[in-house]
Amino acid sequence: MKLTVVGGGSTYTPELVDGFARLRDTLPVEELVLMDPAEDRLDLVGGLARRIFARQEHAGRVTTTTDLDEAVDGADAVLLQLRVGGQAARQQDETWPLECGCVGQETTGAGGLAKALRTVPVVLDIADRVRRTNPRAWIIDFTNPVGIVTRALLQAGHKTVGLCNVAIGLQRKFAALLSVAASEIHLDHVGLNHLTWETAVRLGGPEGEDVLPKLLGEHGDTIAADLRLPRPLLDTLGVIPSYYLRYYYAHDEVVRELRTKPSRAAEVAEMERRLLAMYADPALDEKPELLAERGGAFYSEAAVDLAAALLGGGGSPYQVVNTYNRGTLPFLPDDAVIEVQAAVGAKGASPLPVQPVDPLHAGLMAGVTAYEDLALQAALHGGRDRVFRALLSHPLVGQYAYAETLTDRLIAHNREHLAWA
Ligand code: G6P
Ligand code: MN
Repeated sequence: MKLTVVGGGSTYTPELVDGFARLRDTLPVEELVLMDPAEDRLDLVGGLARRIFARQEHAGRVTTTTDLDEAVDGADAVLLQLRVGGQAARQQDETWPLECGCVGQETTGAGGLAKALRTVPVVLDIADRVRRTNPRAWIIDFTNPVGIVTRALLQAGHKTVGLCNVAIGLQRKFAALLSVAASEIHLDHVGLNHLTWETAVRLGGPEGEDVLPKLLGEHGDTIAADLRLPRPLLDTLGVIPSYYLRYYYAHDEVVRELRTKPSRAAEVAEMERRLLAMYADPALDEKPELLAERGGAFYSEAAVDLAAALLGGGGSPYQVVNTYNRGTLPFLPDDAVIEVQAAVGAKGASPLPVQPVDPLHAGLMAGVTAYEDLALQAALHGGRDRVFRALLSHPLVGQYAYAETLTDRLIAHNREHLAWA
């Protein structure tokens, strides 16, 4: 089996490689291709990847290349994990929205729109080249904003599934709190990427007993503290939101906090400098501890599980993925991309039925779905007016004056990445 990682020079890659090495029985990778335009990073990350495989006595080969066509030729699956403009662009996304009193975040709000506009054309171009070289390859999209990028790929007819680590992270956390194996926990996970709620926490599988009330009863304070949300809010919701919902439920508080500290992009850039220095050490042959401070915990396990299922070799039968709604959430359009449990196999992902959704959450999902649709229109066709419409539609913007100012700032800060600007 040949797997290609586009954005393979990312400092995150050793996490992925460690997962491929540990979980080789689930996913027997014979060749792992790391593709990245940044040759210097590729050398450092590729070197460490080879040492991780060697230490864990993995027989697979790790190759590196800057050539996309060569990288995807013969690949069974292609993982997309790229960041157009790097941490410097993220730094901007996290900063200028704050000046208008709006959250500055890499995937949520105006910053997330900027990221979508930079990213969608690049990803579509890569996917077209994958299809031309290798039409049977699966594309696994980690590239944020995953909901919008996956929708762009699906609309263009690509063989793709979108993936995020939020659900697998919560699954692991709840399993630890309940002292059961992670594989025992099945989450009823509902929403859009980075806008999800766990509406049940089941033991054993999709039909298992729902222990969410017990989990909240016994560990509600811990969960609330982790999410940095008030405990009474969790009791009122009766479900567990992902930490991205804090940008909605505590928006102004987050803005105040963000204004007083360095951006996450700045923190990550500093961590990346330290990580790359470590990767250069020929004695290092495992993923360093420092990597655990990044948000991507467990993403390698989610990736292995999904690739194994898509390539017909095993993996969990049900996984939380991003795919077309197609009636699963009846209050959203069929071509919305949702993040839910799905049956996953060689034919792709097919969402499991979802219990009726509380209007409290359905309303927000509908609002953000409309935004994602308008954001994709802006990313595909460009133009100030489309950017403005996407911003005005976003539940965290909504006001004419803000949308006007944010539109101008977004365009000014991203001109070099926007072909039409
Ligand atoms: C989580 C999210 C990812 C996001 C990451 C950010 O893993 O699911 O989509 O990219 O956090 O982590 P970072 O360390 O870059 O802030
Ligand atoms: Mn994510």
